[in-house]
Amino acid sequence: MRDAAPETVYLKDYKPFGYVVDSVHLTFDLAPHATRVTSRIAFSPNPETTDRTFFLHGEKLKLIRATIDGAEIAPQVTPEGLTATAPDAPFVWEAEVEIDPAGNTALEGLYMSNGMYCTQCEAEGFRKITYYPDRPDVMSTFTVRINGDLPVLLSNGNPKGQGAGWAEWHDPWPKPAYLFALVAGDLVATEDTFTTVSGQPVALKLWVRPGDEHKTAFGMEALKKSMKWDEDSYGREYDLKVFNIVAVDDFNMGAMENKGLNIFNSSCVLASPDTSTDMNFERIEAIIAHEYFHNWTGDRITCRDWFQLCLKEGLTVFRDSQFTADMRSAPVKRIHDVIDLRTRQFPEDNGPLSHPVRPESFQEINNFYTATVYEKGAEVIGMLKRLVGDAAYAEALDLYFARHDGQACTIEDWLKVFEDVTGRDLTQFKRWYSQSGTPRVKVTEDWAEGTYTLNFEQTTLPTPGQPEKLPQVLPIAVGLIGPNGDELQETTVLEMTEAKQSFSFDGLPARPVPSILRGFSAPVILERESTNTERAFLLAHDTDPFNRWEAGRALAQDTLLQMATGAGEPDADYLDGLRSLMRDDTLDPAYRALMLGLPGQAELAGLLADRGITPDPMAIWQAVEHLRDAQAQALGPLLEELYEANQVTDPYRPDAEQSGKRALAGALLRLITRRDGGARASALYTAADNMTLALTALSCLLQAGQGEAELAAFYDRWKDDRLVIDKWFMLQIAEATPERAVSVAQALTEHPDFNWKNPNRFRALFGALTANHAGFHDATGAGYQLLADWLIRLDPLNPQTTARMCTAFQTWKRYDPARQAKIAVELDRIAATPDLSRDTSEMISRIRGA
Ligand code: PHE
Ligand code: ZN
Repeated sequence: MRDAAPETVYLKDYKPFGYVVDSVHLTFDLAPHATRVTSRIAFSPNPETTDRTFFLHGEKLKLIRATIDGAEIAPQVTPEGLTATAPDAPFVWEAEVEIDPAGNTALEGLYMSNGMYCTQCEAEGFRKITYYPDRPDVMSTFTVRINGDLPVLLSNGNPKGQGAGWAEWHDPWPKPAYLFALVAGDLVATEDTFTTVSGQPVALKLWVRPGDEHKTAFGMEALKKSMKWDEDSYGREYDLKVFNIVAVDDFNMGAMENKGLNIFNSSCVLASPDTSTDMNFERIEAIIAHEYFHNWTGDRITCRDWFQLCLKEGLTVFRDSQFTADMRSAPVKRIHDVIDLRTRQFPEDNGPLSHPVRPESFQEINNFYTATVYEKGAEVIGMLKRLVGDAAYAEALDLYFARHDGQACTIEDWLKVFEDVTGRDLTQFKRWYSQSGTPRVKVTEDWAEGTYTLNFEQTTLPTPGQPEKLPQVLPIAVGLIGPNGDELQETTVLEMTEAKQSFSFDGLPARPVPSILRGFSAPVILERESTNTERAFLLAHDTDPFNRWEAGRALAQDTLLQMATGAGEPDADYLDGLRSLMRDDTLDPAYRALMLGLPGQAELAGLLADRGITPDPMAIWQAVEHLRDAQAQALGPLLEELYEANQVTDPYRPDAEQSGKRALAGALLRLITRRDGGARASALYTAADNMTLALTALSCLLQAGQGEAELAAFYDRWKDDRLVIDKWFMLQIAEATPERAVSVAQALTEHPDFNWKNPNRFRALFGALTANHAGFHDATGAGYQLLADWLIRLDPLNPQTTARMCTAFQTWKRYDPARQAKIAVELDRIAATPDLSRDTSEMISRIRGA
């Protein structure tokens, strides 16, 4: 299994392929264990190079025959591909290979899921389907014929013809092989149409397995909203006669933007009020938008090589965030994004897996579909927009689409359109793509005779392979607030470019309180001495909703850090401020729900480590429990009052308004449960007529040490719904006390429904365990051992999901020597596993090497 010695690929070694592909014709004769793939590919010499080496990628293929211009050849075949002698002139390549979709457990290439054939080709999966130059800069039109005894046969582009047992598809838009897709199965479609801005009708079809039809309506609406939004906001129109979406139960990632045939993890598209939570609905809407937006940012304009992954992903995440902000609440979306960034990206950027938004080398590209490439990549675009302004951003995007349509591009191409539109030199800005690590910005201030000065100093700590750091361009949005709470200076963006830089505001009537990094205008760590009084003042008066939330967050965080290190009681300023915010009915319930939130326990551990204190997971857990009790105490009868006031009486809708109310009521119920021992939660569980309320109630009950009977009843009711049973697995581990988390998880691995080969189920169990911070970091090391056992078991079947789950260990150096030693043992045990995949071995060696 092992791919020889893992080779490292470098950005600096990029060379174009010796040939261009003029057209691709593929024929599939489907059979579970012996699918025949016949390819006819027209090649011609690439004028951009004189190197005519003819190497085609191919893995796990049984070559039946290969011809060049009709003459049989005998290529040199290795486990990675084949090399042949090819003419320095146009020619036609034909090959026939046999593959084994039913034996493909890695879920990459052509595989089977519940009797249905489907594909996943990004990043390098097409080479498991046939011999091909499997690189994103080789683009071609594809014509596909599928022969198979199944009712629905789909591929990219427009339908060309179909009959009993066959279908033909043609995709007129040149694309790289990673966007190829094929689906065949017994599927049913929900259909709709969308008429584009220029009047072209598009048939929309959302395909699911029979029985799931009731879960498609929301996804279809989300798709139509996305299509309209991309026309209105970016002037992007859809470009084929059909748009197909297919839901698949076995999928390594969230979803995939294959041209005209998006394939979704069923958890990211199927939704119904009975089976999905408000959070599921919001996420599904965002992912449908994300994949749809890729049609232009990814498909029409793609990446030259995989180092440029952020070109499509950062931009598309940025676009889907804008979409969600427009569809729902912009401040709430921004806060969610920042919480997510701090939870997933900051630990990555400040640990052994740290890498630039555009990495410079990799062993396994699948390991670089990271929070850094996606989420930090999106932040970089947000900063660019803030720096050049909205109008120039829009102009630059128009130029990007006009100039690069049909091309495979680089970050240089992307930045050049901004330089051409604005006349700015973006050389320094480009460091955001090459320098890893999160910049830290220290702030001090001076005040004299009406002049207020902010002094900033930026530093970035060394990261793997990057001992020295250079100053970055930081857009720092700042506002100033006067002592009476009036805004003296409205938001202005300071552009920091030096290691140290000061900015002054004069003519001020009194010393202001600064509101710095409004809207989280740059993905940095702000370090500033502040007092609780000042934070409480901002919590009451800041006009920037993000920073207002941030002020409350800072208060909660500081008090938690003190409590976790044995000093102090819950802070009174925080609890007072929280009480007045909760009473403020002018504030959106969703926003108030966020205000009740606390930093995650892993985040707190990271903050302690940052301050040179070894985090004690149990002490952190206790501090959070204690502060929760204090919140419940401080809010007292207000809890019930607000809980009643935020009940939804209308029929269920997963929109921002209703879900905001449910989020607030849910957060309140958690606190109420600390006072009433679960009485109200139990009533809610009985009355709940949607999944959001049912899960809220159930998790409150579990948290109160109850809910056994409800949990059993929940299982009985939903045992045939995989997505709901995933929640059932997750919930029990999430709500287990630290002492019990590992044993609960361990017991669940023995449950007959623990289909560990299904990535969603594997992640439901182990994702919940690793997210239970104090449980996973149980001092005995049992959590580490359990995870390692299962990673070793999954690796030979599904390297991609295994490697991804290894990130649970990335923060190991934060903890005490005893825990570190226990983790090291597990890392070494994984590393020593015979035939470990390239994916997992790269991850483990990067993590271990810290
Ligand atoms: N390109 C997909 C997305 O971001 C993610 C993905 C990557 C899916 C690799 C599968 C495999 O939408
Ligand atoms: Zn994407």
